[in-house]
Amino acid sequence: MKQFISTADVPSVPRLVDIALNYKADPFRDKELGKNKTVGMIFLNPSLRTRLSTQVAARNLGMEAIVFNIDKEGWALEMNDGVVMNGNTTEHVKEAAAVMGQYFDILAIRTFPGLKNKEEDYTEKYINQFIKYAGVPVVSLESATLHPLQSLTDVITIREHWNQPRKPKVVMTWAPHVKALPQAVPNSFAQWMNAWGEADFVITHPEGYELDEKFSGNARIEYNQDKALQDADFVYVKNWSSYRDYGKIINTDPSWTFTNAKLALTNSAKVMHCLPVRRNVVIADEVLDGPQSIVIQEAGNRVWAAQAVLSEILKAKV
Ligand code: CP
Repeated sequence: MKQFISTADVPSVPRLVDIALNYKADPFRDKELGKNKTVGMIFLNPSLRTRLSTQVAARNLGMEAIVFNIDKEGWALEMNDGVVMNGNTTEHVKEAAAVMGQYFDILAIRTFPGLKNKEEDYTEKYINQFIKYAGVPVVSLESATLHPLQSLTDVITIREHWNQPRKPKVVMTWAPHVKALPQAVPNSFAQWMNAWGEADFVITHPEGYELDEKFSGNARIEYNQDKALQDADFVYVKNWSSYRDYGKIINTDPSWTFTNAKLALTNSAKVMHCLPVRRNVVIADEVLDGPQSIVIQEAGNRVWAAQAVLSEILKAKV
């Protein structure tokens, strides 16, 4: 694997899931693979799970991980080419990314969307500038439109919680939130569900919250949440802001909050969320603290997803 930005970089999703589950069974099986290698982890935005799980994954492979919170500790980056830099930006990404490429074997980056300019966000201007100038493989720690490490984790988690011959019904449901959030996690979950192909995948949300069809693909869209949840084996709860009315909150209906009453409509579904989650806004305490929630196991699996990705890139480099 040469980089990890989306499913397009993954030759086989089931194989990558197998690699991750093998690491879960035996974390140190490749403890020499990353010897004398370094991954630079560049954050333009906050993180708990992505940062720590990737650091642990790197350590399991014998690799060093160096974290740089560039938004707080670095120079203000200019991302546009050909500009006269007489404003607030101090260093161009051409130099910054290229210099970091001199220090690291892999460059991993988190860069959220601005949610103001759809075209700028959906062309992935920021991460593409790093890919263009770094000169080393780039791993997305969540970009403007996708969160592939999270989605790989989610496929791993569904795989390990499902042992029946039929395909599981997986429902991704929108839930309310007080802030306008990116579409990266739901876009990415949809993209990975479609690429995996081993689930009956349904998306439910209020009208106006349709995702970019480039990611939702052939997923069934159901505007009635109660109807969508019937017979669900897994429920993936997530808020996102509108793609159509870009970056806007157009609905705050609390009846979309995921509660035990909603859970009762399902086939004793396992409940997933990428975290962090706003309790009693997105998912009720009774669900998060109940037996059907697998959000902690899901977050735990972030390590194995990151380890699988780093190992595949290291193997391709040697
Ligand atoms: N799910 C996730 O990416 O968590 P963090 O934002 O804490 O990394």
